[in-house]
Amino acid sequence: MSVARPTYQKVRKAVFPVAGQGTRFLPATKTVPKEMLPVVDRPLIQYAVDEAIAAGCDTLIFVTNRYKHAVADYFDKAYELEHRLEHAGKSDLLELVRNVLPDHVRAVFVTQSEARGLGHAVLCAQPVVGDEPFAVLLPDDLIFSRGPGALAQMFALAASTEAGVVAVQDVPREQTCSYGIVATTAWGDCDNRIGSIVEKPAPEQAPSTLAVVGRYVLPPQIFAKLETQTPGSGGEIQLTDGIAALLADHPVLAHRFAGRRFDCGSRIGLVEATIQFALEHDDLAEDARRYMRTALQQYDTRGGV
Ligand code: G1P
Repeated sequence: MSVARPTYQKVRKAVFPVAGQGTRFLPATKTVPKEMLPVVDRPLIQYAVDEAIAAGCDTLIFVTNRYKHAVADYFDKAYELEHRLEHAGKSDLLELVRNVLPDHVRAVFVTQSEARGLGHAVLCAQPVVGDEPFAVLLPDDLIFSRGPGALAQMFALAASTEAGVVAVQDVPREQTCSYGIVATTAWGDCDNRIGSIVEKPAPEQAPSTLAVVGRYVLPPQIFAKLETQTPGSGGEIQLTDGIAALLADHPVLAHRFAGRRFDCGSRIGLVEATIQFALEHDDLAEDARRYMRTALQQYDTRGGV
């Protein structure tokens, strides 16, 4: 009897590579991992985790390094804090703390002992992912969306096509050297099958201006490809190169997601995300608008406060 291969109908596992250095945020990242930098009142990692849980994931795999205890601590149960809040009758705060991870979701931590790149980080998650399709979310890419989250959109596409899916967005040509770039071709009813993908090409060599954003839905066959990858762009094992090797055996689609992506790996991206989420926040929106109007007026007319 043959065993049916796992399909994309119910993707449950999400991998979060969180072993990066975060040098753009030094000196803050001397002690605070960049994934723990807050956007309003929640750390960056929480937004990606919420997106994965909303899409139906119940097993979250964090690929960390030995300096990132703060991420594990954050998702651990905070007994003392919960006890204190409970005693003080602060049920709203208690709920906030408990909702960091709902009861039905489990967090697994895997260590990446050497910084050998994103592809290597994903490969470190293989023993936990096993032989089923899975998601990868890069928490630096914070995606705001009013409807279903970007990952939920991608799961729906993967389930209806039985193909892998990579999130993409158009970028100015001069920025291709900061992204994985894809070229797409037709495939059945779809016009967005990835025909080629290349990591951080120079603008004049980029096959298009369609850039990979940090959300992926991948089949387990990617692991075999990553295992044999030699270092690519930046001397690192690149996930992009693993996907490029996969394309010959397995269809992968490029999905232009509905939503706005903030590049929180950059300082301006983190500032923009903070403004966006403050404006969306019931308790903060009015004060945030008022302050921004005043500040802009002062800087525009007088060059500052
Ligand atoms: C990584 C990927 C790249 C992708 C980008 C999206 O690059 O390697 O293909 O376009 O994330 O944020 P990084 O930004 O980690 O250098």
